[in-house]
Amino acid sequence: MDPETRRQALRIAARLAMPLSLWGCATTVAPPTPESPASPATADAGSIPPGQPVVSPPAPSARCTAPADPEHPTEAEARCCREQLASIIPDGGREVPSEVLGCCRTVATWLDQNARGTFGEGWPQRNTCCRALEWQGSLTCTPWGPPVPPSLEGERVTSRPVLPLDLREEAARLAPSVPRLPALRRMAVATWRGRMVNEYESAEVFEALAETLAQAGFARSVVDEVRGFSEEERRHGVLCGAVVTALGGEARAPGTARPSFPLHPDVEPLEAVLRNVLSVCCMSETVAVSLIAAEREEMPEGELRALLTGIWSDEVGHARFGWRLVTDLVPTLDEAARARLGLWLRVAFAHLETHELAHLPLDARPPEAGRALGLCRGDHARALFFDTVTEVIVPALEAVGLPARDAWTRRRALPLAA
Ligand SMILES: [Fe+2]
Ligand SMILES: [Fe+2]
Repeated sequence: MDPETRRQALRIAARLAMPLSLWGCATTVAPPTPESPASPATADAGSIPPGQPVVSPPAPSARCTAPADPEHPTEAEARCCREQLASIIPDGGREVPSEVLGCCRTVATWLDQNARGTFGEGWPQRNTCCRALEWQGSLTCTPWGPPVPPSLEGERVTSRPVLPLDLREEAARLAPSVPRLPALRRMAVATWRGRMVNEYESAEVFEALAETLAQAGFARSVVDEVRGFSEEERRHGVLCGAVVTALGGEARAPGTARPSFPLHPDVEPLEAVLRNVLSVCCMSETVAVSLIAAEREEMPEGELRALLTGIWSDEVGHARFGWRLVTDLVPTLDEAARARLGLWLRVAFAHLETHELAHLPLDARPPEAGRALGLCRGDHARALFFDTVTEVIVPALEAVGLPARDAWTRRRALPLAA
């Protein structure tokens, strides 16, 4: 990422989070290619030197059967493969036995379509497998639509029916023109499909947020504004699906189990609302604004850039809403409530970091041409994520009176110790 692009993205995010400044943003990750090999300076400990083979002779115990539908493996098929890979390839291992390369593909394909599923955020063999697959059809970088905020009680999986997402009809009507880059087509389809799912699902996050705002007694106009965000996220899902269709893919994905929206019964309704607004708008959406700003900056003019700009401007509104609310309301809280929010921020920061890094594969290095399709480098996107947190989000939260710096330093998943 060009340093000026990074600075521009941070400037935009900062203006968003700092109401007093003048207001004038799966990201995607992609595969290393022969044109852009992993450099020794940036490769992680498990990276493979260029030219070294990554597929070794057959393993003795390849036991999972090939999926009945290779394009849509089932969770059971993916689980079998994941367990088999874990038993054969040590964490940080460099070689994929040829017998289990198909299993790498099964798990990667399943994760592409079910990134929020039950084991999507912890696959130790991911980098090893994705290198062996040359990152084709592998999990891509899609940290856009805000996830369900964390709960101090831990996330709970809903019991409601999990329905598949099918946006083919709506997406086909839009037909945006996208660059023809056949070598990057599969990766681009996976990227935009992942975004389609994230964006569409985040509509439910805003619906639930609007409901909690209503129950906490916020004005109708405020509740309606957030309901409008929900509609925008649904439209973003269709727009991303339209890109999938334009790339020659299918704008559909299997249903995924999702955590229920936290109500935070341990605190008063206003404080509960602030927890969720901090997580959804001030954290996730501000990071999305920054990442999309950088992606947009690097994308050439055209219909895809215009489509991205439309999504980006809505995300700006989602983040600004949160900063406005937090700036107005946090100062009205007593010291005890601000301290409780500070403790909760530790969990929220840990949740944010886990979510973002899971969607920003470190080794993903698409060729320069990938910028035209919204494909970016995972290491660059991660750096921008951390900069956005430490240079924008933390200072802005400190400015409204929350101990965000301490919370970021002491971020941790539950159980939370005071
Ligand atoms: Fe969105
Ligand atoms: Fe959004």
